[in-house]
Amino acid sequence: MLERLRDPFGFGRPGFERHAKDFGDLPRLDGLRVLITGASGGLGQATRSACDALGATTFDASRSSGWDLTDPARVGALAEELGEVDVLVHNAGVLPTAYQETAEGLELALALNLVATHRLTRALPAKKVIWVSSGGGLTQSLEVEPMFSPPKPYDGVVQYARTKRAEIVLAKLWARERPNSCFSAMHPGWADTPGVSSSLPTFHKLTKGVLRTPEQGADTIVWLCGAQVETGKFWFDRSQADALPLPGVRSAAADEAALWARLESLL
Ligand SMILES: NC(=O)c1ccc[n+]([C@@H]2O[C@H](COP(=O)([O-])OP(=O)(O)OC[C@H]3O[C@@H](n4cnc5c(N)ncnc54)[C@H](OP(=O)(O)O)[C@@H]3O)[C@@H](O)[C@H]2O)c1
Repeated sequence: MLERLRDPFGFGRPGFERHAKDFGDLPRLDGLRVLITGASGGLGQATRSACDALGATTFDASRSSGWDLTDPARVGALAEELGEVDVLVHNAGVLPTAYQETAEGLELALALNLVATHRLTRALPAKKVIWVSSGGGLTQSLEVEPMFSPPKPYDGVVQYARTKRAEIVLAKLWARERPNSCFSAMHPGWADTPGVSSSLPTFHKLTKGVLRTPEQGADTIVWLCGAQVETGKFWFDRSQADALPLPGVRSAAADEAALWARLESLL
């Protein structure tokens, strides 16, 4: 009862432990080449370690390993170097605490969380593509123009959530574009990572006792790397989840088409 009060959405560790009672073994990944963006820390690093242990050959794309994904030239070079992979995990993400712009003139969260993932999906053939979205994305309707031109004063939490909503939509749109590959978006819950403690220090302080470990947050990412699932869906704790659970939150077809057109225009 107390746990339900401390973790009302099941996004924390108590929720994971409850849901994990129904989990089987993770699928083996022998022979698979898996690229995980942002695998130098946090959830990406935990995902990479788990994939390695399950037999995959893994690659990291982060600034620490020389790949700033907000630079379109580095995205192209990365795709050229790897040629193709079996699984592409779009994990690198940022929640900026203040407005920042890339050299290309895009707001930082938009550039890394969304535009870079679209470019890399286009440039690097993969049988499976996974977007690590966020529960925050569920709070926002898909709104393309405010995401590309964030209103002032800048609110990094809202901007981040808009990009995370758009990631869920993008998995669906890519599933239509490439019916022979599998595209998924997922929500890792709330995990204790460097990103959470630096971008959301108050949230981190208040929830620290119930946050998931990075390994628990990474579990569904790793599961999706090996599981046979329906393309274009949204996942949480190894189950398909409702991407529009809140009243009044929408993802209109016209906005989805506008999102695709904006991203394609940036290729
Ligand atoms: N932790 C949570 O509770 C939580 C909840 C919901 C969703 N998520 C999502 O899960 C993903 C991982 O989150 P996290 O908490 O593990 O974040 P994190 O601790 O901040 O790690 C982010 C990773 O992204 C890399 N990165 C940052 N900027 C980059 C760039 N320009 N190019 C390439 N890589 C870059 C970082 O490595 P370098 O610094 O070396 O570049 C790092 O490896 C994010 O997409 C986040 O939105 C996390």
